[in-house]
Amino acid sequence: MKGIILSGGAGTRLHPVTLPMSKQLLPVYDKPMIYYPLSVLMLAGITDILIISTPRDLPQFEHLFGDGSTLGLNITYGVQETPRGLADAFLIGADHIGDDPAALILGDNVFHGPRFSEVLQENARDVDGCVLFGYPVNDPSRYGVGVTDGAGRLVSLEEKPENPRSNMAITGLYFYDNEVVDIAKNIQPSPRGELEITDVNRVYLDRGRAKLVTLGRGFAWLDTGTHDSLLQAGQYVQTVEQRQGLRIACLEEIALRRGLIDADACHAIGAGLGKTAYGQYLMTIAAEHRTEALACAS
Ligand code: DAU
Repeated sequence: MKGIILSGGAGTRLHPVTLPMSKQLLPVYDKPMIYYPLSVLMLAGITDILIISTPRDLPQFEHLFGDGSTLGLNITYGVQETPRGLADAFLIGADHIGDDPAALILGDNVFHGPRFSEVLQENARDVDGCVLFGYPVNDPSRYGVGVTDGAGRLVSLEEKPENPRSNMAITGLYFYDNEVVDIAKNIQPSPRGELEITDVNRVYLDRGRAKLVTLGRGFAWLDTGTHDSLLQAGQYVQTVEQRQGLRIACLEEIALRRGLIDADACHAIGAGLGKTAYGQYLMTIAAEHRTEALACAS
């Protein structure tokens, strides 16, 4: 499966903070926002990833990740000249996707929860149609909203409805079979002139091939769309990380645990980050990993 992170847009709701820089590079506590969606793709087992952003911001993402090889990934980049909608990602990413299924995640979506990698990997396997991820919220009118039958099949989907039929928001993580590229090429722009992801998803729904996986109680899908919610997301990460001594969305740790990099590489990245707590953490987990490997070998 190929991955796409859509990280464009003007971030107008966060002005003036986002006047000089990309929203998706703002910090969520101790790391840039895009680390969180990238970690989700990595946990799903995806290593070929296209990052799409604006002509102005894309060089910053390239500076941050390069070709991805330090994380054992293959990262490439695509420009979205203007914010033509979320489904535009499949037009920009058509060559990247090729004949494979695709996962799209929005660069401002932060997920955290138990057994998430299992949920992701189970649903990334043999995608037939599309898989959407739902999350109960108390303000569904701000999102895509879905209703399912008892078997997890989506039966209704609306974008930002005034009178939502459920409290189940559709999150910014989507898995598709390869037909998504053709479907995206054939939908009509909305009155706002955007290729809406909800219109793509509705094609799958009409074909009876849209599944909704609910991320329920105990799970966090955090908003980063306003100054307050961005700060709260950072405080959530701070609270959990300080309590557990474990980091959320630590890309090097995920790469190490998934065998994409070895302990020496992880240690070297940590050492390169000097005396930061993040760097110290990488060196600690590299040492622990070596000890675990030795214990397994003996
Ligand atoms: O976050 C989940 C929600 O994302 C879903 O529930 C909605 O169904 C979906 O339409 C989308 O709603 P938003 O109102 O959050 O979409 P927005 O236009 O704000 O774009 C989401 C992110 O994608 C934002 O960080 C900017 C980026 N973006 C957006 C557009 C339209 C792009 O990179 N390119 C674009 O063309």
